Amino acid sequence: MNIFKIKVTDLEGTTHELEGPEGYRVMEVIRDNGIPIRAECNGCASCATCHVYVNENSLGKLFPQSDEERKLLSDSYHLQENSRLSCQILMTPETDGLEVILTPDCE
Ligand code: FES
Repeated sequence: MNIFKIKVTDLEGTTHELEGPEGYRVMEVIRDNGIPIRAECNGCASCATCHVYVNENSLGKLFPQSDEERKLLSDSYHLQENSRLSCQILMTPETDGLEVILTPDCE
């Protein structure tokens, strides 16, 4: 099984270097490492409480947003151009080294 790395900055501003297996959702890797993230719908793309900001360098490596993801994020007060739902980003060779910052929606 391939293991990839990501960097996650939590709501207190601490950056964590995490590892997760290929195919896992970034939200799951964050949660499984004990970093608080609400992720209420458990990855069903219906809550936006896994909303993160993606480092500019990593944005181009991600799959385009679905209409569903775009709609959910558009309802957030914290929407930015680099907003994504971390449950919709998979651990893949393309996302190895991904850097994300948790948003207040994760509280
Ligand atoms: S966990 Fe609910 S949208 Fe990602």
